[in-house]
Amino acid sequence: MKEERLQKFLANAGISSRRKCEELILDGKIEVNGIVVTELGTKVSEKDIVKYDGKIVKPEEEKVYILLNKPIGYVTTAKDQFNRDTVLDLVKINKRIVPVGRLDMYTSGALILTNDGDFVNMLTHPKNEINKTYNVTVRGIIKKEEIRQLENGVEIDDGYITKSAKIKILKIDEEKNISRIQITIHEGRNRQVRKMCEAINKKVLALHRNSIGNINVKDLKLGNWRYLTNKEIDNLHKKY
Ligand code: URA
Repeated sequence: MKEERLQKFLANAGISSRRKCEELILDGKIEVNGIVVTELGTKVSEKDIVKYDGKIVKPEEEKVYILLNKPIGYVTTAKDQFNRDTVLDLVKINKRIVPVGRLDMYTSGALILTNDGDFVNMLTHPKNEINKTYNVTVRGIIKKEEIRQLENGVEIDDGYITKSAKIKILKIDEEKNISRIQITIHEGRNRQVRKMCEAINKKVLALHRNSIGNINVKDLKLGNWRYLTNKEIDNLHKKY
């Protein structure tokens, strides 16, 4: 019978990324055969009864990879403490999928969901540097110097300087006093694009993620989703 490390078993079962599963174990949230286990090296097999949150964790199931075009007004969590609509309300399948990374409630666009914990880890690890492209509408007329600052790095989060970004001006509307730019970054700090715009004193009016790697949502209506193709999944394993 195949034995594997508890954190791998949990990640494969779609509970979360392997790193998060390690935290669940260390926090005493996992039971094996009725006993709370906090040892990361613990090995389990199909004959063991593993429980998380009092519920039995079923061993590995078929992996699914989904691309959602998230509308605004939905939170990116599996379960929301305030009972708000979540992205999982839009993707109703009978597998325990989790979002890869996060889009803010008022950000729309490309969001991947999967039950493959290793894939989540891979895509969210900073060393993998997967490009994400956003269309941003800001109030005011953006200046060349501000574009240069965004490209070279601005300070967010108490001293953190963002890595180099690619910026394209899409539209400057002097009458409406708004600018639309496209920002490509390969980091995924919390609310990064909004904070980058704040750093140059520009208020974000709308934020949409067009693409993750070379996967984009232009053929998906807001609120719709589709399975990723094998080729797209393979491509995400490569760097951009
Ligand atoms: N950056 C943000 O500020 N918000 C998002 O939702 C994604 C990236």
